Amino acid sequence: MTTDGRRAAVTGAASGIGAATAKLLQSRGWRVVCLDRNLEGARTTAGSKGVAIEIDVADEASSIKAFAEAGEVWGGLDALVTAAGVIETTPFLETSVAQFRRLFDINVIGSFLSVREGSKLMGDGARICMVASISSYTGGGYVASGSYATSKGAVLTMMRSTARALGDRGIAVNAVAPGFIDTPFVSSAMDDPERRQEVVAAVGKVGTAEQIAESAAWLVSPEAEFVHGSTLIADGGILMR
Ligand SMILES: NC(=O)c1ccc[n+]([C@@H]2O[C@H](COP(=O)([O-])OP(=O)(O)OC[C@H]3O[C@@H](n4cnc5c(N)ncnc54)[C@H](O)[C@@H]3O)[C@@H](O)[C@H]2O)c1
Repeated sequence: MTTDGRRAAVTGAASGIGAATAKLLQSRGWRVVCLDRNLEGARTTAGSKGVAIEIDVADEASSIKAFAEAGEVWGGLDALVTAAGVIETTPFLETSVAQFRRLFDINVIGSFLSVREGSKLMGDGARICMVASISSYTGGGYVASGSYATSKGAVLTMMRSTARALGDRGIAVNAVAPGFIDTPFVSSAMDDPERRQEVVAAVGKVGTAEQIAESAAWLVSPEAEFVHGSTLIADGGILMR
């Protein structure tokens, strides 16, 4: 099936998984709106064919404005990938309420606002892919804290709630749950090379943003037509170890 001319919005498009997904979709003929709080980064990803819009996904007014603008670019959306997110490495029981709230504001409320506003621009046949994490199965460990894992667990539940809420409108909602992926997200959390080596040895498999982009791009493609309310675990087999 062709995806030529289909319209997608990707949050977190300035870096890592969001950037790789936006570029992959573009390479397959999609028209892509790149949303990020890092506008310069989003512009770089968008290139000359795409469009970049600034957003703070945790902020309601900013999300409403950004998605309204995104909707005007090509008159609607056929797909949304919610990749904007932040990590937390503080050990679970040492986590402050402010750190916990930041995770929930960006990872949970941020995803909610993006699907709420993004879905207003969609019609029958549109598709959403939310980016969760295998930490919602493991409870954290390796790099991510329990608080991060808890926020991603909420994202997975929200994916199913959204699938229920939007299914009747013909909008499919799924999630990809990546394992340990080499992006600025994890490298900034592991700037100590020894710690990095330790974690990489424990995890066994480190993936690339491009590998996760393949999963996200498939979930929003017409080929995934029969898939709704599902989670695609893309972790190189970490959960099978
Ligand atoms: N890298 C991994 O190992 C891994 C594993 C599992 C899940 N994930 C998830 O994948 C998603 C993307 O992560 P990544 O590894 O590409 O990280 P990244 O840091 O490379 O990219 C995250 C992007 O989100 C943007 N962002 C953060 N807060 C924002 C906000 N409030 N408003 C708008 N944009 C915001 C950042 O500017 C950045 O461009 C995240 O949701 C993360 O939880 C990553």
